[in-house]
Amino acid sequence: MTRNTKNHTEQDFVASIRQAAPYVQAHHGSTVVLMFGGEAVEDESFDCLVNDIALIQTLGIRLVLVHGARPQIEQRLKQRKAAIHYINALRVTDDDALAAVRDANGSLRVEIEARLSMGLVNAPTPGARIGVASGNFVIARPLGIHNGVDYCHTGEVRRIDADGIHQQLDAGRMVLLSSIGYSPTGEVFNLSAEEVATATAIALHADKLVILVEGKSLRNTRRQLIRQLSLLEAEQLLQSRRKLNSEWIRHLGHAIDSCRRGVNRTHLIERSTDGGLLLELFTRDGIGMLISAESYEGLRPASIDDVGGILRLIEPLEEQGVLVKRSRERLEMEINHFLVVRRDGMIVACAALYPCEGGAAEIACLAVHPEYRKQGRASSLLTAVESKARQAGIRQLFVLTTQTSHWFRERGFHSAELASLPVKRRSLYNYQRKSRVLIKAIE
Ligand SMILES: CC(C)(COP(=O)(O)OP(=O)(O)OC[C@H]1O[C@@H](n2cnc3c(N)ncnc32)[C@H](O)[C@@H]1OP(=O)(O)O)[C@@H](O)C(=O)NCCC(=O)NCCS
Repeated sequence: MTRNTKNHTEQDFVASIRQAAPYVQAHHGSTVVLMFGGEAVEDESFDCLVNDIALIQTLGIRLVLVHGARPQIEQRLKQRKAAIHYINALRVTDDDALAAVRDANGSLRVEIEARLSMGLVNAPTPGARIGVASGNFVIARPLGIHNGVDYCHTGEVRRIDADGIHQQLDAGRMVLLSSIGYSPTGEVFNLSAEEVATATAIALHADKLVILVEGKSLRNTRRQLIRQLSLLEAEQLLQSRRKLNSEWIRHLGHAIDSCRRGVNRTHLIERSTDGGLLLELFTRDGIGMLISAESYEGLRPASIDDVGGILRLIEPLEEQGVLVKRSRERLEMEINHFLVVRRDGMIVACAALYPCEGGAAEIACLAVHPEYRKQGRASSLLTAVESKARQAGIRQLFVLTTQTSHWFRERGFHSAELASLPVKRRSLYNYQRKSRVLIKAIE
């Protein structure tokens, strides 16, 4: 085969590696807490998930796994003709139930450790072992008695031994946690896996909390997948009267909790998606839902009070010819199209989204104050603008730029002909500026 006739598989492979490389580099050395339910271990796809986990570990991500055990506990209780009772939506773990909890968690831990001991399938370096550490890293206390109900062996996280976990991660081991905890009095408590995962991510100051969800992904009222939410949007969604099932109420609650307490990113991925974990971590657009604290801090829709601040930011760039001139009156009229980032009492970044006909929209006036550049602010703004566009049902973004085409190309935009612009926008094209047209399709 000559150099120019690579088949599609080879081309796809090359494109995938190119796309993944910056993410591999970015995640190297980061700490990720990954939670999955006991359902994952029962499923025939578990070997694929284990292999993806092993792959992530070999790429230098410091990984803490937290597994649930609900189906296995229920199975054991059934065998014993016993049941976990729920009172006020909280589990009551009596002696029988605790025996099932211990039994299920113990055998699941052994099963997961065994599968991880296989290491990375098809690795060219046989014997490259993945070390797994499990132990008494979760310190628990009893939930106690509420409204006269004794919740017995149901517990809550009291503390996570973050130092102990970090020592294992520093030694190159993956840490595996079950949904049980131990008290300083030597008792065992039944915990929720999500609570353990959230508390661990917070205690470790993890870069990410990733939850593999059993149900279907959340969709907005137009039946589109919700791909990204700021902390504020997640809080609004949870408080809205929209019907969310109990699983999503729990997921959103934990994601919000971890975001508020220092874990900037929580990813919620449908567990049934083959390779979902890899797609979420190593592709630009991911596949799951991201709840992010970053875009919340200071980034918000502009209001009329921001007009002065935006003008101070963009006027020097207009004078340099980088941005098209906008009058104060025009800005006031169009303020609803703008997003701004406010820091230290001033507007340090802005961007605008102008919807056009035919499901397209223009990104314009993207600017970051020179002293605040190179810290990812424009990238966060672009993500927020894309999310706003998705929510508005927009399918294609375009931008006209004279000096920033590479910045957009590095973020998934492609050069396009003037003819690909919506007709009305094309008629307003300024031939003297000779701006380049770049477009990006969005889901
Ligand atoms: C382009 C701009 C918005 C980027 O803001 P930012 O917050 O620094 O962006 P990010 O932190 O997300 O990205 C920084 C990266 O983009 C690169 N970059 C900045 N300007 C660039 C350009 N014109 N072309 C290509 N890459 C550029 C930086 O070098 C940096 O990459 P590096 O760290 O690998 O060197 C900012 O430089 C700016 O306001 N420029 C003037 C206005 C403008 O050109 N707007 C676009 C017109 S629509």
